[in-house]
Amino acid sequence: MRASLTQTPPAQLEVDALAVPVVAGEALTGPAADLDQSLDGLIREAFDSGEHRGRVNEVLPLNTAGRIAARRVLLFGLGPRADLDGQRQRFAHHELVRAARAYGHRRLAVLPRSSPTQADLAAAVEGCVMGSWERRSRQTGPRPVRIDELLLAGFGAGREKEVSNALEVGDAVNQAREWQNMPPNELTPEALAQEARRIADRHGLELEVLGQAELRAGGYNLLLGVAAGSNLPPRMIRLAHKAGAGSDTRLALVGKGITFDSGGISIKPADGMYKMKGDMAGAAAVLAAMDVIAGRRPAIDVMAVVAATENMPGGNAQRPGDVVTSANGKTVEIVNTDSEGRLVLADAITYALRHAATHVVDLATLTGAAKVAIGHAATAALANDESLWALVAKAGDRAGDRVWRLPAYADYRVLLASRTADLRNSEYGEAGMITGGMFIQQFVEDRPWVHLDIAASSWNDNDELTTVPRGPLGSGTRLLVELAELMSGERR
Ligand code: BES
Ligand code: MN
Ligand code: ZN
Repeated sequence: MRASLTQTPPAQLEVDALAVPVVAGEALTGPAADLDQSLDGLIREAFDSGEHRGRVNEVLPLNTAGRIAARRVLLFGLGPRADLDGQRQRFAHHELVRAARAYGHRRLAVLPRSSPTQADLAAAVEGCVMGSWERRSRQTGPRPVRIDELLLAGFGAGREKEVSNALEVGDAVNQAREWQNMPPNELTPEALAQEARRIADRHGLELEVLGQAELRAGGYNLLLGVAAGSNLPPRMIRLAHKAGAGSDTRLALVGKGITFDSGGISIKPADGMYKMKGDMAGAAAVLAAMDVIAGRRPAIDVMAVVAATENMPGGNAQRPGDVVTSANGKTVEIVNTDSEGRLVLADAITYALRHAATHVVDLATLTGAAKVAIGHAATAALANDESLWALVAKAGDRAGDRVWRLPAYADYRVLLASRTADLRNSEYGEAGMITGGMFIQQFVEDRPWVHLDIAASSWNDNDELTTVPRGPLGSGTRLLVELAELMSGERR
Protein backbone atom coordinates (compact mmCIF):
# COMPACT_ATOMS: atom_id res chain seq x y z
CA MET A 1 0.00 0.00 0.00
CA ARG A 2 1.26 3.48 -0.89
CA ALA A 3 0.28 6.28 1.45
CA SER A 4 0.72 10.00 1.01
CA LEU A 5 -0.47 13.30 2.38
CA THR A 6 -2.58 15.45 0.14
CA GLN A 7 -3.50 19.14 0.43
CA THR A 8 -6.21 18.89 -2.23
CA PRO A 9 -9.65 19.68 -0.75
CA PRO A 10 -11.43 16.37 -0.15
CA ALA A 11 -14.29 17.30 -2.48
CA GLN A 12 -11.82 17.40 -5.38
CA LEU A 13 -10.07 14.10 -4.70
CA GLU A 14 -10.44 11.59 -7.50
CA VAL A 15 -10.58 8.43 -5.44
CA ASP A 16 -12.95 5.50 -5.23
CA ALA A 17 -14.03 6.51 -1.76
CA LEU A 18 -13.57 9.21 0.85
CA ALA A 19 -13.62 7.87 4.39
CA VAL A 20 -15.01 10.14 7.09
CA PRO A 21 -14.53 9.23 10.76
CA VAL A 22 -17.48 9.69 13.06
CA VAL A 23 -17.25 9.98 16.83
CA ALA A 24 -20.56 8.85 18.30
CA GLY A 25 -22.62 11.80 19.46
CA GLU A 26 -20.35 14.48 18.00
CA ALA A 27 -21.06 16.83 15.14
CA LEU A 28 -18.77 17.02 12.12
CA THR A 29 -15.89 19.49 12.32
CA GLY A 30 -12.92 20.52 10.19
CA PRO A 31 -12.50 19.10 6.69
CA ALA A 32 -15.42 16.71 7.12
CA ALA A 33 -17.78 19.63 7.81
CA ASP A 34 -16.56 21.42 4.65
CA LEU A 35 -17.03 18.24 2.69
CA ASP A 36 -20.58 17.93 3.92
CA GLN A 37 -21.30 21.41 2.54
CA SER A 38 -20.22 20.25 -0.92
CA LEU A 39 -22.52 17.27 -0.44
CA ASP A 40 -25.51 19.44 0.44
CA GLY A 41 -25.68 17.95 3.94
CA LEU A 42 -25.71 14.30 2.88
CA ILE A 43 -23.60 13.27 5.87
CA ARG A 44 -25.64 15.22 8.40
CA GLU A 45 -28.73 13.65 7.02
CA ALA A 46 -27.26 10.19 7.65
CA PHE A 47 -26.74 11.20 11.30
CA ASP A 48 -30.12 12.83 11.70
CA SER A 49 -31.95 9.86 10.26
CA GLY A 50 -30.02 7.49 12.53
CA GLU A 51 -28.53 5.63 9.57
CA HIS A 52 -25.07 6.09 11.04
CA ARG A 53 -24.46 6.38 14.75
CA GLY A 54 -20.67 6.38 14.93
CA ARG A 55 -20.33 2.96 16.48
CA VAL A 56 -17.10 1.04 16.01
CA ASN A 57 -17.38 -1.29 12.99
CA GLU A 58 -20.25 0.73 11.56
CA VAL A 59 -19.41 1.65 7.96
CA LEU A 60 -22.05 3.37 5.84
CA PRO A 61 -21.48 3.93 2.10
CA LEU A 62 -23.11 7.03 0.66
CA ASN A 63 -23.34 7.67 -3.08
CA THR A 64 -22.22 11.18 -3.88
CA ALA A 65 -24.19 11.48 -7.14
CA GLY A 66 -21.62 13.67 -8.87
CA ARG A 67 -21.54 16.37 -6.20
CA ILE A 68 -17.85 15.69 -5.47
CA ALA A 69 -15.08 13.96 -7.43
CA ALA A 70 -15.21 10.77 -5.35
CA ARG A 71 -18.00 8.37 -6.18
CA ARG A 72 -18.55 7.39 -2.60
CA VAL A 73 -18.25 8.55 0.95
CA LEU A 74 -17.73 5.93 3.63
CA LEU A 75 -18.79 7.01 7.10
CA PHE A 76 -16.97 4.92 9.65
CA GLY A 77 -17.47 4.92 13.40
CA LEU A 78 -14.86 5.50 16.08
CA GLY A 79 -17.32 4.94 18.93
CA PRO A 80 -17.86 7.39 21.81
CA ARG A 81 -14.98 9.73 22.59
CA ALA A 82 -14.72 8.46 26.17
CA ASP A 83 -13.84 4.97 24.90
CA LEU A 84 -11.47 6.11 22.18
CA ASP A 85 -7.80 5.22 22.58
CA GLY A 86 -5.03 4.45 20.14
CA GLN A 87 -5.93 0.79 19.88
CA ARG A 88 -9.62 1.37 19.15
CA GLN A 89 -8.66 4.05 16.65
CA ARG A 90 -6.40 1.60 14.81
CA PHE A 91 -8.96 -1.19 14.88
CA ALA A 92 -11.68 1.17 13.57
CA HIS A 93 -9.45 2.03 10.60
CA HIS A 94 -8.76 -1.66 10.17
CA GLU A 95 -12.50 -2.32 9.83
CA LEU A 96 -12.91 0.66 7.53
CA VAL A 97 -10.35 -0.74 5.12
CA ARG A 98 -11.89 -4.22 5.29
CA ALA A 99 -15.23 -2.66 4.31
CA ALA A 100 -13.69 -0.52 1.55
CA ARG A 101 -12.07 -3.60 0.07
CA ALA A 102 -15.35 -5.49 0.21
CA TYR A 103 -16.92 -2.65 -1.81
CA GLY A 104 -14.13 -3.12 -4.37
CA HIS A 105 -12.36 0.19 -3.71
CA ARG A 106 -8.68 0.49 -4.56
CA ARG A 107 -7.99 4.19 -4.06
CA LEU A 108 -9.07 5.43 -0.68
CA ALA A 109 -8.80 8.84 0.96
CA VAL A 110 -9.13 9.12 4.73
CA LEU A 111 -10.09 12.28 6.58
CA PRO A 112 -9.04 12.98 10.17
CA ARG A 113 -11.01 14.08 13.15
CA SER A 114 -10.49 17.81 13.66
CA SER A 115 -6.82 18.95 14.01
CA PRO A 116 -5.11 15.57 13.88
CA THR A 117 -2.21 15.01 16.28
CA GLN A 118 0.85 12.89 15.60
CA ALA A 119 -0.93 10.05 17.39
CA ASP A 120 -4.00 10.42 15.14
CA LEU A 121 -1.92 10.25 11.99
CA ALA A 122 -0.01 7.18 13.16
CA ALA A 123 -3.25 5.47 14.20
CA ALA A 124 -4.93 6.17 10.85
CA VAL A 125 -2.02 4.92 8.77
CA GLU A 126 -1.20 1.90 10.91
CA GLY A 127 -4.86 0.90 11.16
CA CYS A 128 -5.35 1.17 7.40
CA VAL A 129 -2.21 -0.86 6.71
CA MET A 130 -3.42 -3.48 9.17
CA GLY A 131 -6.77 -3.61 7.38
CA SER A 132 -5.05 -4.50 4.14
CA TRP A 133 -3.52 -7.66 5.51
CA GLU A 134 -5.07 -10.78 4.02
CA ARG A 135 -5.51 -13.86 6.14
CA ARG A 136 -6.67 -16.05 3.26
CA SER A 137 -3.28 -16.04 1.56
CA ARG A 138 -3.45 -19.77 0.92
CA GLN A 139 -6.78 -19.84 -0.81
CA THR A 140 -6.72 -20.40 -4.56
CA GLY A 141 -9.03 -18.49 -6.88
CA PRO A 142 -9.42 -14.75 -7.44
CA ARG A 143 -7.38 -12.52 -5.14
CA PRO A 144 -9.32 -10.25 -2.80
CA VAL A 145 -9.29 -6.55 -3.68
CA ARG A 146 -6.49 -4.55 -2.09
CA ILE A 147 -6.19 -0.84 -1.43
CA ASP A 148 -3.31 0.30 -3.67
CA GLU A 149 -3.31 3.90 -2.65
CA LEU A 150 -4.16 5.66 0.59
CA LEU A 151 -4.47 9.44 0.60
CA LEU A 152 -4.38 11.30 3.90
CA ALA A 153 -6.56 14.32 3.30
CA GLY A 154 -6.55 17.20 5.77
CA PHE A 155 -3.81 15.76 7.98
CA GLY A 156 -1.56 18.76 7.38
CA ALA A 157 1.65 19.14 5.41
CA GLY A 158 5.27 18.22 5.98
CA ARG A 159 4.49 15.09 7.90
CA GLU A 160 5.97 12.64 5.39
CA LYS A 161 8.33 11.14 7.95
CA GLU A 162 5.43 10.38 10.29
CA VAL A 163 3.65 8.68 7.41
CA SER A 164 6.60 6.54 6.40
CA ASN A 165 7.29 5.60 10.03
CA ALA A 166 3.68 4.51 10.47
CA LEU A 167 3.75 2.54 7.21
CA GLU A 168 6.83 0.75 8.45
CA VAL A 169 5.19 -0.11 11.76
CA GLY A 170 1.96 -1.24 10.09
CA ASP A 171 3.92 -3.48 7.73
CA ALA A 172 5.83 -4.96 10.67
CA VAL A 173 2.59 -5.74 12.49
CA ASN A 174 1.30 -7.45 9.35
CA GLN A 175 4.53 -9.41 9.04
CA ALA A 176 4.04 -10.66 12.60
CA ARG A 177 0.44 -11.63 11.74
CA GLU A 178 1.60 -13.41 8.63
CA TRP A 179 4.06 -15.48 10.66
CA GLN A 180 1.36 -16.27 13.24
CA ASN A 181 -0.95 -17.39 10.48
CA MET A 182 1.62 -19.55 8.67
CA PRO A 183 0.94 -23.26 8.93
CA PRO A 184 3.24 -25.07 11.32
CA ASN A 185 4.48 -27.39 8.59
CA GLU A 186 5.98 -24.29 6.96
CA LEU A 187 6.98 -22.09 9.85
CA THR A 188 9.33 -24.50 11.62
CA PRO A 189 12.03 -23.49 14.11
CA GLU A 190 14.58 -23.42 11.28
CA ALA A 191 12.22 -21.31 9.16
CA LEU A 192 12.06 -18.78 12.01
CA ALA A 193 15.86 -18.75 12.03
CA GLN A 194 15.81 -18.08 8.28
CA GLU A 195 13.51 -15.11 8.84
CA ALA A 196 15.94 -13.79 11.43
CA ARG A 197 18.76 -14.26 8.92
CA ARG A 198 16.89 -12.13 6.38
CA ILE A 199 16.46 -9.35 8.93
CA ALA A 200 20.13 -9.56 9.92
CA ASP A 201 21.20 -9.29 6.27
CA ARG A 202 18.90 -6.36 5.64
CA HIS A 203 20.35 -4.28 8.47
CA GLY A 204 23.81 -5.73 8.97
CA LEU A 205 22.93 -7.06 12.41
CA GLU A 206 24.90 -9.58 14.39
CA LEU A 207 23.17 -12.97 14.20
CA GLU A 208 23.70 -16.12 16.20
CA VAL A 209 21.67 -19.31 15.79
CA LEU A 210 22.29 -22.14 18.23
CA GLY A 211 21.45 -25.67 17.03
CA GLN A 212 21.33 -28.94 19.00
CA ALA A 213 25.07 -29.18 19.59
CA GLU A 214 25.50 -25.59 20.75
CA LEU A 215 22.42 -25.82 22.94
CA ARG A 216 23.85 -28.91 24.59
CA ALA A 217 27.21 -27.22 25.08
CA GLY A 218 25.50 -24.19 26.64
CA GLY A 219 23.38 -26.34 28.96
CA TYR A 220 20.08 -25.09 27.57
CA ASN A 221 18.33 -28.22 28.79
CA LEU A 222 14.93 -26.63 29.33
CA LEU A 223 14.71 -25.77 25.65
CA LEU A 224 16.16 -29.15 24.67
CA GLY A 225 13.69 -30.91 26.96
CA VAL A 226 10.71 -29.29 25.26
CA ALA A 227 12.22 -30.06 21.85
CA ALA A 228 12.86 -33.70 22.70
CA GLY A 229 9.45 -34.87 21.55
CA SER A 230 9.76 -33.31 18.11
CA ASN A 231 11.64 -34.50 15.05
CA LEU A 232 12.52 -30.90 14.20
CA PRO A 233 15.68 -29.51 15.77
CA PRO A 234 15.25 -26.48 18.06
CA ARG A 235 16.89 -23.13 17.50
CA MET A 236 17.96 -20.37 19.83
CA ILE A 237 18.14 -17.21 17.78
CA ARG A 238 19.77 -13.88 18.63
CA LEU A 239 19.82 -10.73 16.53
CA ALA A 240 21.77 -7.80 17.90
CA HIS A 241 21.85 -4.12 17.10
CA LYS A 242 24.94 -2.47 18.59
CA ALA A 243 24.82 1.27 19.18
CA GLY A 244 28.57 1.54 19.68
CA ALA A 245 30.55 3.04 22.54
CA GLY A 246 28.68 5.15 25.04
CA SER A 247 25.62 2.93 25.34
CA ASP A 248 25.31 1.03 28.59
CA THR A 249 21.70 0.00 28.04
CA ARG A 250 21.25 -3.38 26.43
CA LEU A 251 17.58 -4.14 25.96
CA ALA A 252 16.70 -7.79 25.32
CA LEU A 253 13.39 -8.59 23.61
CA VAL A 254 12.77 -12.27 24.25
CA GLY A 255 10.10 -14.14 22.31
CA LYS A 256 8.43 -17.52 22.80
CA GLY A 257 8.76 -19.34 19.50
CA ILE A 258 6.79 -22.57 19.90
CA THR A 259 5.98 -23.23 16.25
CA PHE A 260 3.37 -25.77 17.29
CA ASP A 261 2.17 -26.61 20.80
CA SER A 262 0.46 -30.00 20.97
CA GLY A 263 0.97 -29.94 24.72
CA GLY A 264 3.50 -32.77 24.48
CA ILE A 265 2.76 -35.85 26.61
CA SER A 266 0.28 -33.73 28.61
CA ILE A 267 -1.48 -33.48 25.27
CA LYS A 268 -4.12 -30.86 24.55
CA PRO A 269 -7.69 -31.75 23.53
CA ALA A 270 -8.16 -32.03 19.76
CA ASP A 271 -10.70 -29.19 19.65
CA GLY A 272 -8.87 -26.05 18.69
CA MET A 273 -5.42 -27.63 18.87
CA TYR A 274 -4.75 -26.29 15.38
CA LYS A 275 -4.77 -22.79 16.86
CA MET A 276 -1.50 -23.64 18.55
CA LYS A 277 0.29 -22.84 15.31
CA GLY A 278 0.12 -19.31 16.72
CA ASP A 279 2.20 -20.19 19.77
CA MET A 280 5.15 -18.34 18.25
CA ALA A 281 3.42 -14.95 18.35
CA GLY A 282 5.98 -13.66 20.86
CA ALA A 283 8.79 -14.57 18.48
CA ALA A 284 6.87 -12.98 15.62
CA ALA A 285 6.45 -9.68 17.46
CA VAL A 286 10.06 -9.61 18.59
CA LEU A 287 11.44 -10.29 15.09
CA ALA A 288 9.03 -7.93 13.33
CA ALA A 289 9.77 -5.14 15.81
CA MET A 290 13.51 -5.75 15.53
CA ASP A 291 13.27 -5.28 11.77
CA VAL A 292 11.92 -1.75 12.34
CA ILE A 293 14.13 -0.94 15.33
CA ALA A 294 17.32 -1.95 13.52
CA GLY A 295 16.43 0.27 10.57
CA ARG A 296 16.13 3.27 12.92
CA ARG A 297 19.56 2.73 14.50
CA PRO A 298 18.66 3.65 18.08
CA ALA A 299 21.30 4.90 20.50
CA ILE A 300 20.99 1.82 22.73
CA ASP A 301 21.90 -1.82 22.14
CA VAL A 302 18.86 -3.95 21.37
CA MET A 303 18.84 -7.71 20.98
CA ALA A 304 16.02 -9.97 19.88
CA VAL A 305 16.19 -13.48 21.32
CA VAL A 306 13.88 -16.25 20.19
CA ALA A 307 13.61 -19.75 21.63
CA ALA A 308 12.16 -21.81 18.79
CA THR A 309 10.92 -25.38 18.95
CA GLU A 310 7.85 -27.52 18.60
CA ASN A 311 6.22 -29.09 21.65
CA MET A 312 5.37 -32.62 20.50
CA PRO A 313 4.65 -35.98 22.14
CA GLY A 314 7.21 -38.12 20.27
CA GLY A 315 8.90 -41.19 21.74
CA ASN A 316 11.76 -39.11 23.10
CA ALA A 317 9.44 -36.52 24.59
CA GLN A 318 10.05 -35.37 28.13
CA ARG A 319 7.69 -36.84 30.71
CA PRO A 320 5.68 -35.31 33.50
CA GLY A 321 7.93 -36.07 36.47
CA ASP A 322 11.20 -35.43 34.67
CA VAL A 323 13.62 -33.09 36.38
CA VAL A 324 15.68 -30.87 34.10
CA THR A 325 18.60 -28.57 34.92
CA SER A 326 18.24 -25.16 33.31
CA ALA A 327 21.07 -23.21 31.70
CA ASN A 328 21.47 -21.12 34.86
CA GLY A 329 21.68 -24.18 37.08
CA LYS A 330 18.22 -24.18 38.66
CA THR A 331 16.47 -27.56 38.58
CA VAL A 332 12.90 -27.79 37.33
CA GLU A 333 10.38 -30.56 37.86
CA ILE A 334 8.26 -30.95 34.75
CA VAL A 335 4.79 -31.43 36.18
CA ASN A 336 2.94 -30.69 32.96
CA THR A 337 4.66 -30.76 29.58
CA ASP A 338 2.09 -28.28 28.28
CA SER A 339 3.63 -25.56 30.44
CA GLU A 340 6.48 -25.41 27.97
CA GLY A 341 6.58 -21.68 27.30
CA ARG A 342 8.08 -20.74 30.66
CA LEU A 343 10.71 -23.45 30.21
CA VAL A 344 12.03 -22.24 26.87
CA LEU A 345 11.81 -18.60 28.00
CA ALA A 346 13.83 -19.33 31.13
CA ASP A 347 16.73 -20.62 29.02
CA ALA A 348 16.29 -17.82 26.47
CA ILE A 349 16.62 -15.24 29.24
CA THR A 350 19.75 -16.94 30.58
CA TYR A 351 21.14 -16.73 27.05
CA ALA A 352 20.27 -13.02 26.86
CA LEU A 353 21.96 -12.40 30.22
CA ARG A 354 25.07 -14.23 29.00
CA HIS A 355 25.07 -11.60 26.27
CA ALA A 356 24.96 -8.89 28.92
CA ALA A 357 21.33 -7.82 28.66
CA THR A 358 20.61 -5.04 31.17
CA HIS A 359 16.81 -4.93 30.63
CA VAL A 360 14.56 -7.81 29.66
CA VAL A 361 11.11 -7.72 28.06
CA ASP A 362 9.67 -11.12 27.23
CA LEU A 363 6.67 -11.77 25.01
CA ALA A 364 4.84 -15.04 25.11
CA THR A 365 1.57 -16.75 24.37
CA LEU A 366 2.03 -18.18 27.83
CA THR A 367 -1.29 -18.91 29.51
CA GLY A 368 -4.95 -19.48 28.81
CA ALA A 369 -5.32 -17.77 32.19
CA ALA A 370 -4.37 -14.43 30.59
CA LYS A 371 -7.51 -14.72 28.49
CA VAL A 372 -9.63 -15.52 31.53
CA ALA A 373 -8.11 -12.60 33.42
CA ILE A 374 -8.45 -9.80 30.88
CA GLY A 375 -9.59 -11.23 27.55
CA HIS A 376 -8.47 -10.42 24.03
CA ALA A 377 -8.55 -6.63 24.20
CA ALA A 378 -5.24 -6.15 26.01
CA THR A 379 -1.96 -7.85 26.81
CA ALA A 380 -1.51 -8.98 30.41
CA ALA A 381 1.75 -7.84 31.96
CA LEU A 382 3.94 -8.51 34.98
CA ALA A 383 6.97 -6.48 36.05
CA ASN A 384 9.65 -6.38 38.74
CA ASP A 385 10.74 -2.79 38.13
CA GLU A 386 8.69 0.39 38.26
CA SER A 387 10.70 2.49 35.82
CA LEU A 388 10.87 -0.15 33.09
CA TRP A 389 7.17 -0.80 33.61
CA ALA A 390 6.43 2.93 33.28
CA LEU A 391 8.21 2.95 29.92
CA VAL A 392 6.39 -0.15 28.70
CA ALA A 393 3.04 1.29 29.76
CA LYS A 394 3.81 4.56 28.00
CA ALA A 395 4.96 2.71 24.89
CA GLY A 396 1.78 0.63 24.81
CA ASP A 397 -0.32 3.73 25.22
CA ARG A 398 1.43 5.63 22.44
CA ALA A 399 1.50 2.67 20.10
CA GLY A 400 -2.17 1.79 20.58
CA ASP A 401 -1.07 -1.65 21.79
CA ARG A 402 -2.74 -2.12 25.16
CA VAL A 403 -1.03 -3.58 28.21
CA TRP A 404 -2.48 -4.06 31.67
CA ARG A 405 -0.36 -5.04 34.63
CA LEU A 406 -1.21 -7.72 37.14
CA PRO A 407 0.58 -7.96 40.50
CA ALA A 408 3.55 -10.26 41.11
CA TYR A 409 2.92 -10.74 44.83
CA ALA A 410 5.75 -12.50 46.65
CA ASP A 411 3.07 -14.65 48.30
CA TYR A 412 2.70 -16.66 45.10
CA ARG A 413 6.38 -17.57 45.06
CA VAL A 414 5.71 -20.65 47.22
CA LEU A 415 3.34 -21.97 44.57
CA LEU A 416 6.31 -22.43 42.25
CA ALA A 417 8.04 -24.78 44.70
CA SER A 418 8.63 -28.46 43.91
CA ARG A 419 9.12 -31.31 46.39
CA THR A 420 12.11 -32.63 44.46
CA ALA A 421 13.58 -29.75 42.48
CA ASP A 422 14.07 -25.99 42.83
CA LEU A 423 10.93 -25.20 40.85
CA ARG A 424 7.99 -26.94 39.24
CA ASN A 425 6.61 -25.75 35.94
CA SER A 426 2.87 -26.04 36.57
CA GLU A 427 -0.13 -26.84 38.79
CA TYR A 428 -0.27 -23.73 40.90
CA GLY A 429 -4.04 -23.89 41.09
CA GLU A 430 -4.71 -20.16 40.92
CA ALA A 431 -3.38 -16.92 39.46
CA GLY A 432 -2.22 -18.80 36.36
CA MET A 433 -1.07 -15.77 34.39
CA ILE A 434 0.84 -14.40 37.37
CA THR A 435 2.50 -17.65 38.41
CA GLY A 436 3.49 -18.33 34.79
CA GLY A 437 5.23 -14.97 34.70
CA MET A 438 6.75 -15.41 38.15
CA PHE A 439 8.34 -18.67 37.02
CA ILE A 440 10.12 -16.70 34.30
CA GLN A 441 11.05 -14.02 36.84
CA GLN A 442 13.20 -16.59 38.67
CA PHE A 443 15.62 -16.43 35.75
CA VAL A 444 16.10 -12.68 35.26
CA GLU A 445 18.65 -12.32 38.09
CA ASP A 446 17.07 -9.10 39.29
CA ARG A 447 17.44 -7.23 36.02
CA PRO A 448 14.58 -4.86 35.29
CA TRP A 449 12.07 -7.12 33.58
CA VAL A 450 8.60 -6.95 32.06
CA HIS A 451 6.65 -10.02 31.00
CA LEU A 452 3.96 -9.64 28.36
CA ASP A 453 1.51 -12.53 28.14
CA ILE A 454 -0.02 -12.18 24.67
CA ALA A 455 -1.84 -15.54 24.67
CA ALA A 456 -5.19 -13.79 24.20
CA SER A 457 -4.24 -10.38 22.80
CA SER A 458 -2.28 -11.85 19.88
CA TRP A 459 -5.23 -13.72 18.40
CA ASN A 460 -8.93 -12.90 18.74
CA ASP A 461 -11.00 -16.05 18.26
CA ASN A 462 -14.06 -14.66 20.02
CA ASP A 463 -16.66 -13.83 17.36
CA GLU A 464 -18.68 -11.84 19.85
CA LEU A 465 -15.86 -9.42 20.65
CA THR A 466 -16.50 -7.44 17.50
CA THR A 467 -14.44 -4.31 18.16
CA VAL A 468 -11.23 -6.32 18.02
CA PRO A 469 -10.38 -7.74 14.58
CA ARG A 470 -10.65 -11.51 14.31
CA GLY A 471 -7.58 -13.69 13.89
CA PRO A 472 -3.90 -12.87 14.40
CA LEU A 473 -3.14 -9.34 15.59
CA GLY A 474 0.63 -9.11 15.92
CA SER A 475 0.21 -7.58 19.34
CA GLY A 476 3.36 -6.38 21.06
CA THR A 477 5.03 -5.39 17.79
CA ARG A 478 4.02 -1.74 17.94
CA LEU A 479 4.76 -1.52 21.65
CA LEU A 480 8.31 -2.84 21.23
CA VAL A 481 9.14 -0.38 18.46
CA GLU A 482 7.90 2.48 20.64
CA LEU A 483 9.71 1.15 23.70
CA ALA A 484 13.06 1.08 21.90
CA GLU A 485 12.49 4.69 20.85
CA LEU A 486 11.58 5.77 24.36
CA MET A 487 14.56 4.00 25.90
CA SER A 488 17.01 5.40 23.40
CA GLY A 489 15.74 8.88 24.21
CA GLU A 490 14.49 9.56 20.72
CA ARG A 491 11.07 10.35 22.12
CA ARG A 492 10.04 11.64 25.51
N1 BES B 1 0.49 -22.02 24.46
C1 BES B 1 -0.26 -22.30 25.62
C2 BES B 1 -1.08 -21.10 26.11
C3 BES B 1 -2.17 -20.61 25.20
C4 BES B 1 -3.49 -20.93 25.45
C5 BES B 1 -1.90 -19.77 24.14
C6 BES B 1 -4.49 -20.45 24.62
C7 BES B 1 -2.89 -19.29 23.32
C8 BES B 1 -4.20 -19.64 23.57
C9 BES B 1 0.67 -22.70 26.75
O1 BES B 1 1.82 -23.37 26.36
C10 BES B 1 -0.10 -23.62 27.60
O2 BES B 1 -0.39 -24.70 27.18
N2 BES B 1 -0.41 -23.17 28.82
C11 BES B 1 -1.19 -23.91 29.72
C12 BES B 1 -0.50 -23.89 31.04
C13 BES B 1 -1.15 -24.78 32.06
C14 BES B 1 -0.94 -26.23 31.70
C15 BES B 1 -0.57 -24.43 33.41
C16 BES B 1 -2.56 -23.26 29.82
O3 BES B 1 -2.64 -22.04 29.87
O4 BES B 1 -3.54 -23.99 29.80
MN1 MN C 1 1.53 -25.44 26.15
ZN1 ZN D 1 2.50 -22.96 24.46
